[in-house]
Amino acid sequence: MIHLYNVTKIYPNGVQALRDISVKISKGEFVFLVGPSGAGKSTFIRLIFREELPTRGQILIGGRSIIRLKRSEIPILRRNIGVVFQDFRLLEDRTVFENVAFALEVLEYPRTEIRKRVMVALDMVGLGLKAKMFPHQLSGGEQQRVAIARAIVKNPRILVADEPTGNLDPMTSREIMDLLAEINKKGTTVIVATHDREIVDAFQKRVIALSQGRLVRDDVKGAYAL
Ligand SMILES: Nc1ncnc2c1ncn2[C@@H]1O[C@H](COP(=O)(O)OP(=O)(O)O)[C@@H](O)[C@H]1O
Ligand SMILES: [Mg+2]
Repeated sequence: MIHLYNVTKIYPNGVQALRDISVKISKGEFVFLVGPSGAGKSTFIRLIFREELPTRGQILIGGRSIIRLKRSEIPILRRNIGVVFQDFRLLEDRTVFENVAFALEVLEYPRTEIRKRVMVALDMVGLGLKAKMFPHQLSGGEQQRVAIARAIVKNPRILVADEPTGNLDPMTSREIMDLLAEINKKGTTVIVATHDREIVDAFQKRVIALSQGRLVRDDVKGAYAL
């Protein structure tokens, strides 16, 4: 489903964020991307939803190069990829419902379809009863749930999360990760960048480790460190 071939990313300032990375992630996998700060995790995530382009190498998603996409084809890619960030990135002046609905409004879904899908997504993340609240009325964990609902409401085939538990306490982190695992069980390919050792060790999923832009380990049922 996702293939990186000899991917190198050098930012305009000369920093080599990724060095010759080759990796295959199959449909339905759950993958942790680990490594210390600066290892290249966020760059890896940004390449997958084409927020950045590689300097060298090829990236295929569903067998198609995402590097050669025409501008008009980028929205189709983004429809198939949900993205979750550490800092939630919710619209503060909109309700929970509106934040999630926004993802479908930009895709011009009909109103009744939007309503139905948003409520399904909010029920999935356990916030069906908080649809009318505003982000500042929610806890950090709940805000991240809204962001996850927004990411999955399009029924994407891939969900990428960049340090989704970075701002949360250990118990809430665990709940958020359980939710991502549940979404994965329903068939979505999930990639989570994290440096939360406890969670990675507890989940026993595939672990891809980066260090200074290099892929240094790829274990089927891994721990954070050897
Ligand atoms: N937009 C950018 N411009 C220049 N350098 C960047 C940019 N984003 C990240 N970097 C650099 O690339 C390297 C990898 O960063 P990043 O992918 O954010 O790693 P991680 O998410 O693992 O902390 C770091 O040295 C970082 O400073
Ligand atoms: Mg990062």
